[in-house]
Amino acid sequence: MPKLKLVTFGCQANELDSARIAGLLALEGYALTEDEREADLIILNGCSIRDKAEQKLYSRLGSFQALKARRPGMRIGVAGCLAQREGESLLRRFSYLDLVVGNGEHLAEIPQLLQVAANRPVAATGEPAGLFPTDVEIHRESRFRAWVGIMEGCDNFCAFCVVPFTRGRERSRPPDDILREVAVLQERGYREITLLGQTVNSYGRKLDPPVSFATLLRRIDRLVAKEMRVRFTTSHPKDVTTDLIETLASLPSVCEHVHLPVQAGASRTLQRMERGYTREEYVKKVCALRKAIPDLAVTTDIIVGFPGESESDFSDTLSLMCEVAFDASFAFKFSPRPNTPAALLTDQVPESLQAQRLAQVLALQDELSLRKNLAMIGKTVEVLVDGDLSKRDSGLAAGRTRQNRIVHFGGGVVQEGILASVKITEATPHHVKGVLTASL
Ligand code: SAH
Ligand code: SF4
Ligand code: F3S
Repeated sequence: MPKLKLVTFGCQANELDSARIAGLLALEGYALTEDEREADLIILNGCSIRDKAEQKLYSRLGSFQALKARRPGMRIGVAGCLAQREGESLLRRFSYLDLVVGNGEHLAEIPQLLQVAANRPVAATGEPAGLFPTDVEIHRESRFRAWVGIMEGCDNFCAFCVVPFTRGRERSRPPDDILREVAVLQERGYREITLLGQTVNSYGRKLDPPVSFATLLRRIDRLVAKEMRVRFTTSHPKDVTTDLIETLASLPSVCEHVHLPVQAGASRTLQRMERGYTREEYVKKVCALRKAIPDLAVTTDIIVGFPGESESDFSDTLSLMCEVAFDASFAFKFSPRPNTPAALLTDQVPESLQAQRLAQVLALQDELSLRKNLAMIGKTVEVLVDGDLSKRDSGLAAGRTRQNRIVHFGGGVVQEGILASVKITEATPHHVKGVLTASL
């Protein structure tokens, strides 16, 4: 049986794509292995979002060169956003590379490409316009939580972002396909799904007839009732509608968490990023969401050091973080990406200043998160038990609340994939601790 090693970089979309590749190649007889020395095929599924992500892949790829020299029969491929962006130039740059495969429908071409790659290096990286076929079983590691892709690509072209170039134009899966996949997961006893797309709340606009994300959620909720938790990521602030807010508030299966990347706190920066909303509009939407869903957790992404970001612009980001009181945020130093308008701006912020600003954002978020977590002490929360979150040797179980907070807890033996009630007793910035009161 041939062996496949998959190395995944990047976001949940890439993780899902790796699971798709594993499923597809299982049909060709490949079994997964962690050990590259026994692999007949290594695929590195790469990310391009920041330069650092690309460098990580290159360094890992380099580490396989000696292996290939010893075992010339093995094949090495690069897939995903990095492959899509760089195309076949990668084959010229890395003589030991056999395969370069882009996103979307290209992933499904891997078996045919491998046949070609038996004789010569090959690339398939035309702009992706399709979707991964629905009839290929996805190789899912977890037996109780699953990613469900609902769309691909992005039409927003934020000034800093490479994704519209790597994942192509926005296209949505038909709702019936999605519902069929969810029904199968439900039958198999899955307890949580996360609907995945670059901007899930613009789902379905181009379908014929159009279907809104709110409608999709209502259909999923009707199907799964209380048996499953439903999550979704990522939402775009400009596409948060009143209908969506009312829908989120009314559906019992949908978790009280929205990841709503703001990127910056100054309207001037947001405009230069071409995000399509102002600070005030963002705050208004979060207020409306929180009013409709009182226990909602709001998390975000922040970019520091966007070109031209002044001290005062940056302090607007800090003040916005306090105003919204995010439950968590993911912060990044701006990284100029090839072909994006922001890379051409002349007033780039020096790296040392970016690093300083990043540290300030991280420290402020720790304070905000700690405050939120301390407020949970004494409360009893619902936790979906998840072995991957347990700290080794701690003797504690772990899981996530509906708000996506990590909880470590003792007081009883619980099985992965069940819902437990946990009373919170301690808090740190990144998780809370508690004791089991009941398991369901
Ligand atoms: N579709 C999502 C974002 C996907 S990319 C959205 O629009 O919200 C994930 C995050 O990476 C972004 O939210 C942004 O904060 C960060 N990011 C994207 N491009 C970047 C760049 N050039 N430099 C630094 N961070 C970047
Ligand atoms: Fe990138 Fe903007 Fe699209 Fe998000 S919405 S993927 S940040 S272009
Ligand atoms: Fe994801 Fe990286 Fe592509 S963040 S969409 S894998 S560029």
